[in-house]
Amino acid sequence: MARSLPAPRWAMLLSLVLLIGCMVAPSLAVKHKDFKTCEQSGFCKRNRAFADNASTQGSLWSSPYELDPASIHFKDGILAGDIVKTTATNEKVQLPLTVSFLESGAARIVVDEEKRLRGDIEMRHGSSANKKRYDETEKWVIVGGLEVSKSATLDAQSETGFTNILYGPDGKFRAIVRHAPFGIEFQRDGQTHVQLNHQGLLNVEHWRPKVDRKDDESAEDESTWWEETFGGNTDSKPRGPESVALDVTFPGYSHVFGIPEHADSLSLKETRGGSGNHEDPYRLYNSDVFEYELQSPMTLYGAIPLMQAHRKNSTVGIFWLNAAETWIDIVKSTVSPNPLSLGAHSKTDTKTHWISESGRIDLFVFLGPSPNDISKTYGELTGYTQLPQQFAIGYHQCRWNYVTDEDVKEVNAKFDKYQIPYDVIWLDLEYTDDRKYFTWDPLTFPDPKGMQQKLDETERKLVVLIDPHIKNADKYFVSEELRSKNLAVLNKDGEIYDGWCWPGSSNWVDCFNPAAHAWWATLHKFDKFKGSLQNLFIWNDMNEPSVFNGPDMTMPKDNLHYGNWEHRDVHNVNGLTLLNATYKAMLERKKGEVRRPFILTRSYYAGAQRVSAMWTGDNQATWDHLGATLPMVLTNGIAGFPFAGADVGGFFHNPDKELLSRWYQTGIWYPFFRAHAHIDTRRREPYLISEPHRSYIAQAIRLRYQLLPAWYTAFHEASVNGTPIVRPQYYMFPEDEQGFAIDDQLYLASTGLLVKPVVQENTYSADVYISDDEKYYDYFDFTVYQGAGKRHTVPAPEEKVPILIQGGHIIPRKDRPRRSSGLMRWDPYTLVITLNKNSEAEGTLYVDDGETFDYERGAYIHRRFNYRGSVLSSEDIGVKGPKTAEYLKTMAGVTVERVVLVDPPAEWKAKKTVTVIEDGAKVASTASLEYYEQEAGKASYVVVKKPSVGIGKTWRIEF
Ligand code: NOJ
Repeated sequence: MARSLPAPRWAMLLSLVLLIGCMVAPSLAVKHKDFKTCEQSGFCKRNRAFADNASTQGSLWSSPYELDPASIHFKDGILAGDIVKTTATNEKVQLPLTVSFLESGAARIVVDEEKRLRGDIEMRHGSSANKKRYDETEKWVIVGGLEVSKSATLDAQSETGFTNILYGPDGKFRAIVRHAPFGIEFQRDGQTHVQLNHQGLLNVEHWRPKVDRKDDESAEDESTWWEETFGGNTDSKPRGPESVALDVTFPGYSHVFGIPEHADSLSLKETRGGSGNHEDPYRLYNSDVFEYELQSPMTLYGAIPLMQAHRKNSTVGIFWLNAAETWIDIVKSTVSPNPLSLGAHSKTDTKTHWISESGRIDLFVFLGPSPNDISKTYGELTGYTQLPQQFAIGYHQCRWNYVTDEDVKEVNAKFDKYQIPYDVIWLDLEYTDDRKYFTWDPLTFPDPKGMQQKLDETERKLVVLIDPHIKNADKYFVSEELRSKNLAVLNKDGEIYDGWCWPGSSNWVDCFNPAAHAWWATLHKFDKFKGSLQNLFIWNDMNEPSVFNGPDMTMPKDNLHYGNWEHRDVHNVNGLTLLNATYKAMLERKKGEVRRPFILTRSYYAGAQRVSAMWTGDNQATWDHLGATLPMVLTNGIAGFPFAGADVGGFFHNPDKELLSRWYQTGIWYPFFRAHAHIDTRRREPYLISEPHRSYIAQAIRLRYQLLPAWYTAFHEASVNGTPIVRPQYYMFPEDEQGFAIDDQLYLASTGLLVKPVVQENTYSADVYISDDEKYYDYFDFTVYQGAGKRHTVPAPEEKVPILIQGGHIIPRKDRPRRSSGLMRWDPYTLVITLNKNSEAEGTLYVDDGETFDYERGAYIHRRFNYRGSVLSSEDIGVKGPKTAEYLKTMAGVTVERVVLVDPPAEWKAKKTVTVIEDGAKVASTASLEYYEQEAGKASYVVVKKPSVGIGKTWRIEF
């Protein structure tokens, strides 16, 4: 029988400590030991040592790579030749080179290895892995822009030892190819902007047989060549050392941006130590980094090896097309001018060092000169952001997990009760039957169809999680088919690879195999994924792939994929292959279904923007993490993947009310706007939050919905020319050096909206930096801020997110609150006009059905609004197609219901009407105008009521 004894003092103390421990959120920290540092990664360590040796030797160092002059030929825009590497033992290694000059103005440099191309190598351990260097990254990534320039020519002026090519727009670009040591300099208008192998760090670790000898018999340190062990896993490395590396210098450039995904500042830091710098290079090796840390070069879930270098009025860039593990060192060196050269500025060069474990050197060089040019050219190569369905840019409500179908319906009803708009509710892992994807838990989700039908009543959608690990279980049709059809990833011995993930023992679908795509498509069909309806969309998580018992939380590098490619070669593109398969599957769900797929991904590579949205993974409910989301989302935008967001509220822990509402005020500016929370957190749907914070959150979400026309137009712009949807300061003002490192405020595309969310606790104002001397108006009350090159303090009480509108814009809005974006389809528009110094303004609007691909056949409205000489006009900038007329007919009743013009001339006080002239109307009509005078410091404004001009029509409003 149990006896109750008085608790000893120590036990009481212990319980007290435990109790306090439970009340305070545990501080989370990444497990460094789970992820390699450069020092622990053989090829990174070797290449850093190579760089150190070169720098120690200084001018005595000479890169052992020469372009054989006899091998060089130039034809049809392509220069080809052989680079010869001379080894320490005087062996000559042939490395075929091609430099293609592209019609777009980009140049592409490819270096391969002759022996490997011929398959003339011996594999160790009887491995059946492919002998070539992986050359198929482009198959997954590049979709266009490879047309070779017809006008590129050999420059007759080349000095001996150099081959120069003139190319690019009007032949303004020049590539100076130095033969010995091999290197290339890229010039624009006679000035050098990019240098390859300038520091002599080019390194192609050629294939060589393993010779058994004692350590001291080798001239080189071979300790990391043949086998590497990490986290209890030994990598058999059947081809030995095979890394490729190259230095890329940007002379005169002091800022570099891009290479997501890292939780770091927008302007990338130096990586060779020193105050405020990193110790390790930026790493790109898609990984499930649990409890990731901030201000870090550690790898995260996605990788885009695109870097932009920026200096006053010039942006250039490079794209390193390699899917293997990659590290990038960044060093800046500043040369101060001779003190006697009055007025000269010091000059900073940014030197980068790109190191990949395997594959080829395959590098694109972009010479700008503007950030927009880079976005455009890079987008031609890798594809532009998909134009998403309208619902996808509304608000997404997620948590791990909504536990039953009744739970989902209740959440849905509560949003309506509290009049908070939302478009999508999400189901995480636990909706499945025992973590078997494409099934529903029969006890908790007995009626998935009924649940989806309920959502559909208000045009809402459901997104469910489908991961690439397939539970290894008998009688589970997906597992059985995966095995019987041989579509799984194999281990190094050619057997189905078995690892540990959410369902326990799992196998991974190998989406490098075209047959896997065909099979994956069958799984998504309505008759296979029973219980799914047309308003169900997909979340692909854990696709790095995350493997709980694997090295670096992923698969062993010697695993084999279709084509016998080692996982080492393809790792970073792995997630994208799944997305391609899912995209195709969603298109083919039902014959004749023509709606745009929506897929959220955690892992990505260049090209993922064509098929998915991304989010920044498992962040934390802290102010620091809130602040970190801004540079992360901005970086993704300039790296060509702008449909980006972060878990609103923070994934781990429970945010307090202030943090949560500030997070919503920030989250409405993420192109992908979704709240999400870990399974151990408390419920935090906006309606559960007590007042006044509930209202703050609701107001923020309504603001997102009000501006959906501007957001959709921004997405359209991104989908045709690759521009970021939210943009950093340097991108908008490439001439303003003071703005280059700013990454805590953003612009919504070209709308003129400038936002600086509050990301600090107890903070009630924001210092917004303004570059130019236009007037900026507070979005809510038109307070005027003016003054270039300085910060302006904008009040930010808890209910307010600081937003300014630059003078000179016309912003389309929809001001009627609705339950979902679908229900706003036929609502009328409001146009808000701010004037620039010349009393002019401009803006655009793009509209389509928000759902199908009919826009590709002209079913859309694209207008430019102009305000000039006191006349507001709407002009058609679309291209007509077979479906234009029909679409315009459906939109005939959608009009402009209000025009707000800020800061009008004072003489308009007496004005009572404006004249409205719509194309095709027999007579002009009038609409009423009201003048609202404001106190000093705030601009007055006028409101035109019901001009009722058609949104798809050509018209003029004369003030
Ligand atoms: C990891 C994802 O990052 C997270 O968002 C999700 O909730 C869990 N997987 C469970 O599926």
